[in-house]
Amino acid sequence: MTAKVYVPRDSAACSVGAEETAKAIARVAAERGLEVDIVRNGSRGMFWLEPLVEVATPNGRVAYGPVAPEDVAGLFEAGFLKAGAHRLCLGPTEEISYLKKQERLTFARVGVTDPLNLAEYEAHGGFRGLRAAIGMSAREIVEEVVRSGLRGRGGAAFPCGIKWRTVLGAPALPKYIACNADEGDSGTFSDRMIMEGDPFLLLEGMTIAGLAVGATKGFIYLRSEYPDAERTLTAAIAAARAAKVLGDDVLGSGRTFDIEIRRGAGAYICGEETAMLESLEGKRGMVRPKPPLPAIEGLFGRPTAVNNVITLASVPVILDKGAKYYADYGRGRSQGTLPFQLAGNIKHGGLVEKAFGLTLRELLYDFGGGSASGRPIRAVQVGGPLGAYLPESRFDTPLDYEAFAAAGGMIGHGGVVVFDDTVDMAQMARYAMEFCAIESCGKCTPCRIGSRRGVEVIDHIRAGRKPAANLALLRDLCDTMTHGSLCAMGGLTPAPVVSALDHFPEDFGVSPSGKVS
Ligand SMILES: Cc1cc2nc3c(=O)[nH]c(=O)nc-3n(C[C@H](O)[C@H](O)[C@H](O)COP(=O)(O)O)c2cc1C
Ligand code: SF4
Repeated sequence: MTAKVYVPRDSAACSVGAEETAKAIARVAAERGLEVDIVRNGSRGMFWLEPLVEVATPNGRVAYGPVAPEDVAGLFEAGFLKAGAHRLCLGPTEEISYLKKQERLTFARVGVTDPLNLAEYEAHGGFRGLRAAIGMSAREIVEEVVRSGLRGRGGAAFPCGIKWRTVLGAPALPKYIACNADEGDSGTFSDRMIMEGDPFLLLEGMTIAGLAVGATKGFIYLRSEYPDAERTLTAAIAAARAAKVLGDDVLGSGRTFDIEIRRGAGAYICGEETAMLESLEGKRGMVRPKPPLPAIEGLFGRPTAVNNVITLASVPVILDKGAKYYADYGRGRSQGTLPFQLAGNIKHGGLVEKAFGLTLRELLYDFGGGSASGRPIRAVQVGGPLGAYLPESRFDTPLDYEAFAAAGGMIGHGGVVVFDDTVDMAQMARYAMEFCAIESCGKCTPCRIGSRRGVEVIDHIRAGRKPAANLALLRDLCDTMTHGSLCAMGGLTPAPVVSALDHFPEDFGVSPSGKVS
């Protein structure tokens, strides 16, 4: 009988040798005359266990990891194709507590199915949301998404259904769906994992969005550093067209929707929605003033729904199981689940999809297992490079948009970057300003010039030059950037700087009582 073995093709798994492990399994099996069917799945999102190899058994899948090529002969010796005991055996995959404790709605299939197997996608609930949407009017789809409470997962957390309502109501034609797959935030990889691990889910979500707002064309603006995602998406789009899921007769409905990929220009600011639209139009990624909103005048001046990958990938389950099912997860105005991404100095880095409401401490310790270095965690940056640095006193804040904002944080795209007690927060504040100086689109003065002056002022403080005057100047500069910048790039860069000043004053030579040394 042919044994089924799963080895991820996800780029995080491949970066630690999954390709070589898969080859070693094929080679040793051939040497032993054993038949194995090696499925290249997505990653389960437990990166410290990659390459994670799974074997299908009559009682479900059994995991081994991390499996290096040199471990493979020993695994065969131990009879791993029949779940034999071995020091790398982790037991049934679904019983691994990191996975078991999650609530995977958007990531339900990632790591489970073969990403490019359309039949398997359908067998695991794929296209049920799209089929339901085909039977509904555009307004009904939009209102279902409004009721689900789904908010944008790209950063700004704007209600998705309300945005779609605006695009649906805009009279101009044609309309577009622009999927923001630029994923530039530090410590984030959930978009990439969906695109590599369950690409049909994104295509399904975009098609539903098209039916909802009356768009017949979608673009995926894909981060240029994601060549593996590009290959997988290209193959998925071709397969979806061949199966008439995309094209001029979506699943036999007579409706038209098609998708093209556009490679991003490689700048952080190209993830800002209006700069992304400029870049999609073939121009330099410069921010456009708002209004007009992209929902009214977006790509090529036409009504455009700009949505993040995870926002769109969350839509099929809403249409399949209903708004209430989705909204019952989470708390307050933060409904549904969010795939959090644990990165930086953390023992168990990876993807954790949970309903909103768990605390940062649960994420860092129950899932993350504390720092990788074994030292105390001193600071955490949530929400990308524009997110505040939070000290331990804020770790018990529930991760919902409002509660987290009240504690001075920003959930953003759900990236969590961890630092231990060796971090120099004045250096991190300098890094925030320097990042802005490098990535600024240059359109407005507070951001373009302010970030450069910010680097200089922090350098003066760190060198002990007129510290009291320069600390006051830095706060003044941050105030100007916050209130005078055209977009959130310059507007939010002060958040990590001011949070470092407020929570870690000693790193700037200021005592907790405020005395400047
Ligand atoms: C500087 C900057 C960078 C951004 N980068 C991204 C990004 O990489 N991906 C993303 O989805 N949204 C990014 N955003 C947010 C987008 O502007 C926009 O809010 C989002 O794509 C809308 O989709 P959503 O409502 O589904 O979240 C960025 C915003 C700013 C200000
Ligand atoms: S804040 Fe920065 S990135 Fe945004 S428009 Fe101004 S210069 Fe460009």
